[in-house]
Amino acid sequence: MATFQDNLPDLTVAPAAAGTGASVYIETYGCQMNVYDSQAIDGLLKRAGFTIVDRDLAADVILLNTCSVRDLAEHKVISRVGELRHRRRRADLPQPVIGICGCMAERMGTDLRKGPRKVDLVVGVDNYDTLPDLLGKLTGGTCATEQRTVTGHRSDAHYVAPPALYPVNNSHLVTIHKGCDYKCTYCIVPYTRGPQSEKSPAAIIEEISGIVSSGGREVTLLGQNVTAYNWQGGMGFAALLEKVSEVPGLERIRFLTGHPHDMHRDLIDTIARLDKVCPWLHVPVQSGSDRVLRRMKRYYTRDEYLEMVTYARRAIKDVTFSTDFIVGFPGETESDFQATLEIAREVKYDQAFCFKYSERPGVPAAKLADDVSEDEKKRRLAELMAVQEETWNAVAGACVGEIWEGVVEGRARHQLTREDGPAWRLRTANNRKVILQGGEFEVGDRLRTRITGIKNTTFLGARQD
Ligand code: SAH
Ligand code: SF4
Ligand code: F3S
Repeated sequence: MATFQDNLPDLTVAPAAAGTGASVYIETYGCQMNVYDSQAIDGLLKRAGFTIVDRDLAADVILLNTCSVRDLAEHKVISRVGELRHRRRRADLPQPVIGICGCMAERMGTDLRKGPRKVDLVVGVDNYDTLPDLLGKLTGGTCATEQRTVTGHRSDAHYVAPPALYPVNNSHLVTIHKGCDYKCTYCIVPYTRGPQSEKSPAAIIEEISGIVSSGGREVTLLGQNVTAYNWQGGMGFAALLEKVSEVPGLERIRFLTGHPHDMHRDLIDTIARLDKVCPWLHVPVQSGSDRVLRRMKRYYTRDEYLEMVTYARRAIKDVTFSTDFIVGFPGETESDFQATLEIAREVKYDQAFCFKYSERPGVPAAKLADDVSEDEKKRRLAELMAVQEETWNAVAGACVGEIWEGVVEGRARHQLTREDGPAWRLRTANNRKVILQGGEFEVGDRLRTRITGIKNTTFLGARQD
């Protein structure tokens, strides 16, 4: 693993006078890392004199921060470009500058500047510091064609989203490293995000301290594989968690995503010991079949995964698990798929994000025949989701009557009954959502609630003193 400089460039500071006062609308697709990057871009552009707006029709510039993880995710963006252009024509408004950022920019580069849906600008994940200058040129004057595609990986490009952008008291995203060195055979991320590269512990602590001083109490540490965090070969994820735990005023730490292969016992013990670290593990299993796991290059077997779950359940009080699954990986047989259903039943995940395998160009699995038919993939997906729902309903049903503590995240969208006053959204430390009826609270309040029922993946609760 490469080592990286201590003094990270402050990429939130944009060159002065780049901005032309133009307005920018940012739309985000894909994972939380893109959400964080969009916040960083937002900060970068505001500082350079641009105005960020929340309606596409009102903007001079539209940036789509995109995802390449599945074919469908890319198609959505391409058709969105057409739709955005069409809306302008219909409203008789001038065409905006449209830019593609994120993983598609990195994967497709100049191809995005060709054809009927071509865009004006393509900026990859490590080059957002060029945006103020490029957008200044594009909105204020001219920008040479060859300057309009900026891609390629830079190990120093660690963005820092300004804490002032976050809503106080909800979870504040903090990317702790970027890229991925795992190269699971189906996955495009190592190519779009490049090699793993760490933000320094000092920069992470400074960022979190900034969040706490602006009123934040909870952070979610982000990375494709946070559990593989390794600062200059000397500080792993467990040690980073210890350090983050020491930030005064910080109350809760969550993290996404953990790789099952890195969930060692000492890391699990650390999570169990540190009060601020929430007992929720998102550890995607992908498949329950050893044959498929080997072909995916996931570096664990079904038994090792289950051992990890058993150990964590013993060590971490009230721990919950969530996962991702892929169905229809090349060569997945019916018995491989049955092993996936079995592991879903056995682990009893709180949440399972289930996907049909989608072949990505240039990844190792693209050399294998995509031989599970679309109909079969659909059937397996539906069956897996049904098993997850059934398992979850049993787990959740058994929770009725329990008393949990949760933190108020805001008003719930729907009132349960009008007479009882507003409904509130709460989240427990182990990531369970509860809707509570009645009362007046502030975001961030800690409350005890008695669980009275379930509605899909959300619990219903009543205040308990
Ligand atoms: N770094 C995380 C998540 C990566 S992408 C991890 O290691 O688990 C999020 C999820 O998308 C993956 O967990 C996987 O389930 C899914 N995914 C990735 N590539 C895919 C592909 N080619 N087809 C279908 N699903 C895919
Ligand atoms: Fe993709 Fe695997 Fe890396 Fe996750 S660990 S980002 S699935 S290559
Ligand atoms: Fe998608 Fe890129 Fe995230 S491919 S899942 S936006 S790292």
